[in-house]
Amino acid sequence: MVASSATLAFRSAGLRARALPLAQRSLICYSRAAVQLQSSLRCYSSEPKPETAEKAKEAVKETAETAKEATKEIKDAPKEAPAPVAPKKGGRRSKKFFCTSLALALLVGLVYGSDTRASIHRYAVPPLIRLLYPDAEEAHHFTVEALKQLHRFGLHPRERGDPDGDGALATEVFGYTLSNPIGISGGLDKHADIPDALFDIGPAIVEVGGTTPLPQEGNPRPRVFRLPSQHAIINRYGLNSKGADHMAEVLQERLRDFAYAQGFGEHELAQERVLNGEANVPPGSLVSGKLLAVQVAKNKATPDSDIEAIKRDYVYCVDRLAKYADILVVNVSSPNTPGLRDLQATAPLTAILSAVVGAAKGVERKTKPFVMVKVSPDEDADEQVSGICDAVWGSGVDGVIVGNTTNRRPAPLPKGSILPEDEQPIVKETGGYSGPQLADRTVALVARYRALLDKPNMPELEKRMQEQTATAKEAEPDRENVPAVGAAEPVHKYGRKTIFASGGITNGAQAQAALDAGASVAMMYTGVTYGGIGTVTRVKQELRQQK
Ligand SMILES: Cc1cc2nc3c(=O)[nH]c(=O)nc-3n(C[C@H](O)[C@H](O)[C@H](O)COP(=O)(O)O)c2cc1C
Repeated sequence: MVASSATLAFRSAGLRARALPLAQRSLICYSRAAVQLQSSLRCYSSEPKPETAEKAKEAVKETAETAKEATKEIKDAPKEAPAPVAPKKGGRRSKKFFCTSLALALLVGLVYGSDTRASIHRYAVPPLIRLLYPDAEEAHHFTVEALKQLHRFGLHPRERGDPDGDGALATEVFGYTLSNPIGISGGLDKHADIPDALFDIGPAIVEVGGTTPLPQEGNPRPRVFRLPSQHAIINRYGLNSKGADHMAEVLQERLRDFAYAQGFGEHELAQERVLNGEANVPPGSLVSGKLLAVQVAKNKATPDSDIEAIKRDYVYCVDRLAKYADILVVNVSSPNTPGLRDLQATAPLTAILSAVVGAAKGVERKTKPFVMVKVSPDEDADEQVSGICDAVWGSGVDGVIVGNTTNRRPAPLPKGSILPEDEQPIVKETGGYSGPQLADRTVALVARYRALLDKPNMPELEKRMQEQTATAKEAEPDRENVPAVGAAEPVHKYGRKTIFASGGITNGAQAQAALDAGASVAMMYTGVTYGGIGTVTRVKQELRQQK
């Protein structure tokens, strides 16, 4: 009966607490169960029934007899048997001391281990994971699952001491003031399992996905390979995805938990109130000063030649996911889905992006998600880059993520070195290459996109701009300093396109170079897998030191 009361207490407490952060949930469950358990015990002790008392007496008698027999056996035992050791004086005290020290050591270990600044995260954990999981994909799954479980119990690594609190790294993106200009790139949290654990390690942007409309397996394994000497990875995952509906469920549950924890209640209206800004946090990230990006892609089985079907794929994902995103990212640059990168040609890209922008505008939410397109570093000929920029302006998307993995094989670092023998077959694996060797090219490409996006060459856009300027002049004839119509004017008239940089960023100097080239956010993936969970904190610290 006591046990079943406790179980009931766990269940009822669990139902209500489901909508709270898990660390709090467990505490609530435990404390409610404990209260009920105590009251059940109280029932037993305060109202003993006569037959229960009788049974208790019998049990006491039986126990006493057994004890007598046991004492007799000890007395009759052969003399050479070792005499029982009498407890030492002060034994209890030393036991207490030992327990207290152990508890203290555990506490200190926990505080240290859950701080992103702990050097164990940089120097011990990544090599240990590589040793335990020679298959890089298994290491990826292990890390995501470990972070998920640690976050559930509030034991996950996090940035302590609010280093962004001084505002030194604050930056404006889409009208939001972000706490810092660092992001986690797509693919690390493919199924939106750990956005909150990732936010807690310090970035202002977390990109989850890419997700496809229908679930798909991706390419056969093995499909992720390490080049440890280069701190680089080659992957050909092929956009393995649990599908947009699954991700929508996960993100909705996250929103429901948040709304309940904030005191908005459990009903659907509570979620709408959070989505419409009543909690004073962005509707996607649910964290002040941070934004959640959700990346969408097409299914491999959708024919590359059927633009209408491809548009339907992207729009399907947007319809399911836009509600939970601050930014939607259109992936047309993964090298591992055949034909995907061909969608970066101006006409198909404009058609796809226009469809996504239209669908994003239709989301039932006060503020609509912004839309960005993630482009490949390999489509870098002048006409390709300017064609993509035309599609960006033509479709009305809000920005570009410049960079992804590359099909090329960059020269090893340091310059002039050669790969160790065991890595030479690995570098020939098919797939997208990522790692610090990409950084210089990313910075150069960001600068080119910045220049082109700031001076759109679309004639119709310039015509619209001139018309608007003329209207503005007519409306405000007395206004002084009306800006002259110049090449850079459309940027101010139509809103400057935002750029995020992704590719090879692993330290503060590289992040700063990307920002100086015109990016608003420097994103990381491979750098975190080699540098550990404290990489974002370290890069931000290096950025601060450069200021
Ligand atoms: C294992 C792995 C999986 C990735 N999955 C995706 C993905 O699903 N979608 C995407 O747009 N980029 C994906 N990327 C690319 C990264 O988001 C990033 O753009 C690229 O790795 C370059 O940045 P980095 O050098 O900081 O890793 C993946 C990269 C890696 C290493």
